[in-house]
Amino acid sequence: MHAVRFDHYGDVDVLELREVDDPVAAPGRVVVRVKATSINPGEIAIRVGALEAMYPTTFPCGEGSDLAGVVEAVGDGVDAWSVGDEVLGWTDERAAHAELVAVPATQLTVKPSALSWEVAGAMFVAPVTAWACVRAVAPQAGETVAVSAAAGGVGGVAVQLARRTGATVIGLAGPDNDAWLRGKGVVPVAYGDGQLERLRAAAPDGIDAFIDTFGGGYVDLAVTDLGIAPDRVNTIIDWESAGRVGAKTEGSSVVTAEILAELAALVAGGELDIPIAATYPLTAVKDAYRELAQRHTRGKIVLLP
Ligand SMILES: NC(=O)c1ccc[n+]([C@@H]2O[C@H](COP(=O)([O-])OP(=O)(O)OC[C@H]3O[C@@H](n4cnc5c(N)ncnc54)[C@H](OP(=O)(O)O)[C@@H]3O)[C@@H](O)[C@H]2O)c1
Repeated sequence: MHAVRFDHYGDVDVLELREVDDPVAAPGRVVVRVKATSINPGEIAIRVGALEAMYPTTFPCGEGSDLAGVVEAVGDGVDAWSVGDEVLGWTDERAAHAELVAVPATQLTVKPSALSWEVAGAMFVAPVTAWACVRAVAPQAGETVAVSAAAGGVGGVAVQLARRTGATVIGLAGPDNDAWLRGKGVVPVAYGDGQLERLRAAAPDGIDAFIDTFGGGYVDLAVTDLGIAPDRVNTIIDWESAGRVGAKTEGSSVVTAEILAELAALVAGGELDIPIAATYPLTAVKDAYRELAQRHTRGKIVLLP
């Protein structure tokens, strides 16, 4: 099979699509033929070596966590899945950007037929992280919660899940996302110079909780400038500031197959929208990451092996 590999840290050009051995269905594991697998900024951070201390790498290294596809083989002891089942799930082994991937049977859930392959292949990192963010700050009906990078992979789901709590949701985003955010019942506020004044104007009675999906000072803006209690602030990227002020850092590590199934059911029922900004064949993996690295994606970019 073909899979993405890289032999050392570096820019996007270190990525190669290589012919490698097919994964085997070891006991308790399932081999999935991958139909769709999304890409995430964290994979860029790993590939350039920025997360070496947290996630050490051995080379050659694969990549990719989100996956959707068709069960190709099941290992001994796997009763829940059969060859031909349509599934979505995740791998923690940097292995999803490939034609085949082997995962523990517990890391899969049924792909609802209403989900397209590209959406199914984007259900893990961003939606689960958004779910964790909203749970961490626990918005209540009548409260106001602000979300940075509100139309990105994580932010675009977080604003929708936060709205479902009955809270007023303010989304910090560029002006191109105003209409999309309004369509989700979110109050758009432009980021950049003057954003603090615009946030105060949008929420004259104050902001109760803040979800930071961008970093770069939003934790301090939330706690120091807006006076939000640190335990109502969650960041998925600025761990240094969170440690300093006592903000939360919940993210994708909360994942379970049940959470994934819950989110997939919301999408299947038309209650949650996962915008697909672009799809690329696996052979164009470098182009996919070049687009993601611009940091102006609305929703998800997905590889189709
Ligand atoms: N800890 C975890 O578990 C976890 C999990 C997933 C992701 N992450 C991290 O979370 C971050 C977000 O991931 P993602 O997939 O949502 O990223 P993404 O999809 O690439 O985010 C793109 C969004 O960022 C917005 N943006 C660009 N510049 C901005 C600025 N100065 N202020 C506010 N927003 C800005 C863009 O809005 P415009 O297009 O309107 O400019 C765009 O909507 C990444 O750093 C990722 O590594 C952490």
